[in-house]
Amino acid sequence: MPTFNDLVDAARRAREHAVAGFSHFKVGAALEAKDGTVITGCNVENATYGLTICAERVAMFKALSEGHRAFTRIAIVADTADPTPPCGACRQILWEFGGDLEIVLANLSEIKGHHWLKDLLPLPFDARLL
Ligand code: THU
Repeated sequence: MPTFNDLVDAARRAREHAVAGFSHFKVGAALEAKDGTVITGCNVENATYGLTICAERVAMFKALSEGHRAFTRIAIVADTADPTPPCGACRQILWEFGGDLEIVLANLSEIKGHHWLKDLLPLPFDARLL
């Protein structure tokens, strides 16, 4: 099973692939599936701006498309002194497909934060309410 440091390192490496020519804000994510597989993602921007997809959703959609259905942790990395938490859209997608994930926020040199997704997305809307 990967350690937290393994996950953070994977997110740092994924960040290098960011397609962030508009914001120049590169983000990497590394999602751990229940079986220990690590699936990474980076943000991908395009000329419409609005169709940009964050690193966290890229990681989750890659993981789902590869057959993973249960997840434990996600590391998110940006090159900033303050940690970069997942945006609202990512919180929703991570919650619906990953449940109460453990979230570690890091920059290029250190871990800056540790959270549970249920604390970042109180009163969530999900399939149980349909
Ligand atoms: N971004 C992420 O990939 N994840 C986050 O948690 C915050 C924001 C991306 C989206 C966009 O490409 C850039 O960072 C600036 O918002």
